[in-house]
Amino acid sequence: MEREKLLDTLIPRAWEAAQNAYVPYSGFRVGAALLTKEGKIYPGCNIENSAYGPTNCAERTAVFSAVAQGDRDFAAIAVVGRFADGSPAGGDGFAYPCGVCRQVLAEFCDPDDFLVLLENAGGERKVLTLGELLPYGFVLKD
Ligand code: THU
Repeated sequence: MEREKLLDTLIPRAWEAAQNAYVPYSGFRVGAALLTKEGKIYPGCNIENSAYGPTNCAERTAVFSAVAQGDRDFAAIAVVGRFADGSPAGGDGFAYPCGVCRQVLAEFCDPDDFLVLLENAGGERKVLTLGELLPYGFVLKD
């Protein structure tokens, strides 16, 4: 799929997924839309927990859901996030995948081919490869 079409397809699906975020502690809603190479889209949202540590990020929710349903070949993921009042994440406002999610993506996705699509609360977009986000990720076994 060409890049503009990819963005226009996946970004709205990620914002839609963010509506299901369970975020009573941070109030920060994250949504993900994970595209398989066959064209299936798995949504994910962050799911928080009163013990904090068990909280699951939107990206991992999407990946784990896909893997649990037998899909492991991924082309791209869109990730978006904002606070419930519409205000953006810190820094430049993009909800970049955390380090743990980058490592989880690296388990299944090619660092040079897999694309991470981002949109901040202001509507700016950015496309990165997984390798740009996670250089020198840990690999136990090829
Ligand atoms: N969060 C994600 O869902 N994805 C990330 O990559 C970074 C952080 C969630 C976890 C928590 O529910 C909230 O954002 C604030 O950290």
